[in-house]
Amino acid sequence: MPLLEWSDELSCNVREIDEQHKRLVGMLNRLHQAMVRREGQRLLASILGELMDYTTYHFATEEKYMALFHYPGFQSHSAEHEDFVRTVSRFQKQYENGDVGLSISVLNFLSSWLRDHIMGSDKAFGPFFNANGLCGYEAAEA
Ligand SMILES: [Fe+2]
Ligand SMILES: [Fe+2]
Repeated sequence: MPLLEWSDELSCNVREIDEQHKRLVGMLNRLHQAMVRREGQRLLASILGELMDYTTYHFATEEKYMALFHYPGFQSHSAEHEDFVRTVSRFQKQYENGDVGLSISVLNFLSSWLRDHIMGSDKAFGPFFNANGLCGYEAAEA
């Protein structure tokens, strides 16, 4: 069973951002699956590394549009991104040094942070991005 399942509830009505979120959810589930199967530390570390690289790329995409459109919530939104990267980088370093194991509580943290952030802060910029010409689905299909 996946740790986090994509549903329309998670959509912020911006196709490009939704596609990236789907990919993040997929990577998180892959990490979870590898942990449940008790894969070796090296494989887990490499999936975690990929997830973090893609997260950084994804945050940069959102921040690029927020800056471009002068989104009023830019500061607080990017502060949330920074907090997350700081927390996970610290954990990632400890994990790669073999100081801590990859536990279900870490995966639950990743999963609930992602879900709460998408459903809160990310969904909040949807209408603003749409109003600035970043297509929602209707626009793309029209
Ligand atoms: Fe996001
Ligand atoms: Fe975000």
